[in-house]
Amino acid sequence: MTATAVNPYLDGNFAPVSDEITADNLKVIGELPTDLSGMFVRNGPNPQWSPIGKYHWFDGDGMLHGVRIHEGKATYRNRYIKTRGWQIENQVGKAVWTGLMEPSRPDNPYGPGKNTANTALVWHAGQLLATWEGGTPHAVATPDLDTIGEYNYNGKLVSAFTAHPKVDPVTGEMMFFGYGFAPPYLKYSVVSAAGELLRTVPIDIPMGVMMHDFAITENYTIFMDLPLTFSMQRMQKGLPGLMFERDKPSRFGIVKRHGDNSNIRWFETPACYIFHTLNAYEEGDEVVLIANRMSSTNVLVSNDTKRDSDGDIPRLHRWRFNLTSGSVREERLDDIASEFPRVNENLLGRKTRYGYSGKMAASSTPLFNGVIKYDFRNGTSQIHDYGKGRYGGEAVFAPRFGASNEDDGWLVTFVYDTSSETSELVVINAQDMTSQPVARVLIPTRVPYGFHGAWIAV
Ligand SMILES: [Fe+2]
Repeated sequence: MTATAVNPYLDGNFAPVSDEITADNLKVIGELPTDLSGMFVRNGPNPQWSPIGKYHWFDGDGMLHGVRIHEGKATYRNRYIKTRGWQIENQVGKAVWTGLMEPSRPDNPYGPGKNTANTALVWHAGQLLATWEGGTPHAVATPDLDTIGEYNYNGKLVSAFTAHPKVDPVTGEMMFFGYGFAPPYLKYSVVSAAGELLRTVPIDIPMGVMMHDFAITENYTIFMDLPLTFSMQRMQKGLPGLMFERDKPSRFGIVKRHGDNSNIRWFETPACYIFHTLNAYEEGDEVVLIANRMSSTNVLVSNDTKRDSDGDIPRLHRWRFNLTSGSVREERLDDIASEFPRVNENLLGRKTRYGYSGKMAASSTPLFNGVIKYDFRNGTSQIHDYGKGRYGGEAVFAPRFGASNEDDGWLVTFVYDTSSETSELVVINAQDMTSQPVARVLIPTRVPYGFHGAWIAV
């Protein structure tokens, strides 16, 4: 990198914003439906200070951007998640931790690392949590988005906490896992509908892997042991700790929700990497998983794996794991690159007719130029295009109050217009994907591209 080269994740609409603001009565182009009531909150990296050394998009301090919609009016606020690390760096007045692309510094007087809380959000048992897969979740107040603090389930949390816990919409239980690079490499937990951490069990996998997401069905939990492996021995030899090992299989472990390692079933497929699952469900003897599959990944290991022309391109796939025969079938559902898949979460773990996935632009940085609605019953799809030079993020489904049809509701996401350099929240009728958004809420500040959001009924 030359002295003048700009890190793309600190440039354009990836660049952080410095102010926390609150703005009422936002200008709306179109009309906000009066039966859309709640709050869209999105998490993402927003480094408080200039980074030390190389910066990766995954490194920035978490910032929440929220738009609350009620009776056709909208309010915006953005707030840092004031983690312990954020508070220390705020007091010191500069960054004191390096990121994922730099060697870790175990002798750092402030501690070995920073929990940025920057990845996703989950609403469970009346509490909004900001998540980050390397550590403890943070409780956040709604609708103010003020940080309450680390949330450790009355001291019962004994593992890291995935950014993507899954809430069963019928029972209210929440499932999560934590992974690490020392044995046991994987721990699986269930939280009751009331928010009590009921149990944590170890699940055996051969070595540490980067495990970003998982899936649930009505009765099962599905783990993805994919060959993006971590090896201390490799690191001691001066090789990268984290590598994609394309000669190793992908392993999918299916366990009863309240089961454990003694009754998990493993299925193998050729090597792949999956960041996100769309959904999973049971059908006859099969457990079915739908997720965005890449044939390989260079994430965090860009200089150290063989380049694969088709690698790092996520496309929607479906797996059928037969619990009777032990067979697995893997099938590509679309050739279009997409990521950040979602469903109507009132049907999470059940067979859905529809799913939604962000349509990726051809770009060296992840940009979403639209959202695809998949109709799995008919095997068709429709695309909502954000327009020329306009890029969105994860589109989250917000159901209409009192809806009875699965797709009766809206998709909401922040869109950035590169020509006007402004941000807006777009509200798309999920039953009328190819029309213009029903409402565009103009945000009086730039909303940087980020990771995952949630629609919450507050
Ligand atoms: Fe994620």
